[in-house]
Amino acid sequence: MRKQVTILDIQKMKDEGTPITVLTCYDYPTARIMDGCGIDVILVGDSLGVVVAGHENTLPVTVDEIIYHSRAVMRATPRAMVVADMPFLSYQVDIPTARLNAGRLIKEGGAAAVKLEGGTNMADTIRAITSMDIPVMGHIGLTPQSIHRMGGYRVQGKKEEQADRLMADALAVEAAGAFAVTLEGIPQKLARKITEALTIPTIGIGAGPGCDGQVLVLHDILGLCEKYSPKFVKRYADGRALIADAVSAYIAEVRSGEFPTEAHSFN
Ligand code: KIV
Repeated sequence: MRKQVTILDIQKMKDEGTPITVLTCYDYPTARIMDGCGIDVILVGDSLGVVVAGHENTLPVTVDEIIYHSRAVMRATPRAMVVADMPFLSYQVDIPTARLNAGRLIKEGGAAAVKLEGGTNMADTIRAITSMDIPVMGHIGLTPQSIHRMGGYRVQGKKEEQADRLMADALAVEAAGAFAVTLEGIPQKLARKITEALTIPTIGIGAGPGCDGQVLVLHDILGLCEKYSPKFVKRYADGRALIADAVSAYIAEVRSGEFPTEAHSFN
């Protein structure tokens, strides 16, 4: 069995200038394929609320849902490091609740680390969770759980004052003990500056090529989502067409009597 990726490997990759590859995933068969391809980190993101469950945004996702999907992913990943997202309301209310929920994602979900959104405002929470020996990935910039404050999914840090605040957030997340930080939806120059200022790795999504690693939502790169395709997504497959072709062929063959044949039947 190949060696499991750990936070030490992730740090070494930054130190050696090796790009860190991260994708979201929510189920066993897909995670098995991705692990076999050599992905470094799988994020069981709360994006599952949108791309799997069909919600408008990530806010309805629960800890139990993340645990369910993490367990499926974890069983399929002898190599990749699995990071479980902390959903809305699982860490913002108070620190004891945050510690308990982070612990559940590790104990029940089987993840090796958790991710939570927020910068300076979440530093004490990150410190409290890492003090339980649970590795935390930060997430700053366009934080989808803050959709109502941001007034939609908008690039953050375009103005100098906002950019300074994001730099302060990144430094606060690192000082609080996070092992990495996701930079989402920020100008590429700012992402590069933050990456150079931090000793921990930055994982970009819509933050340009200057980050230590990249993360995207799996359903986006597979072309499975019909609704919203942000500028930063690159589609690597036409998954909707692939599924539609297979399902249409099945329907046609059942209707025509072409399936099943002797080969698919028992005597
Ligand atoms: O939930 C998620 O998929 C995420 C990524 C977009 C970083 O947080």
